[in-house]
Amino acid sequence: MTLDPIICGCYDIHRRTIATAIREKGYRTVDQINKEFFLDKACGNCKDEVREVLKAATGN
Ligand code: FES
Repeated sequence: MTLDPIICGCYDIHRRTIATAIREKGYRTVDQINKEFFLDKACGNCKDEVREVLKAATGN
C-alpha cells in the first residue's frame, strides 16, 4: 500500500499534492481544486476522491 496514492490518473496527481494545495491556498471547494489542477478539463472520474481529500483536510 502506498502512503501517497494517485488521486487523478489523468494528470498523475497524488493525494499529498492535493492536500498541500488545500492547506497552503486555503481551498474549500472541489471546484477550486479542479481549477488548480485542470481536473475539469479531463475525465472527471477523480471528483469523488478529490472530495474525500478535501473532507479529510478541512472537515467540509
Ligand atoms: S482521473 Fe482526474 S481528471 Fe481523469
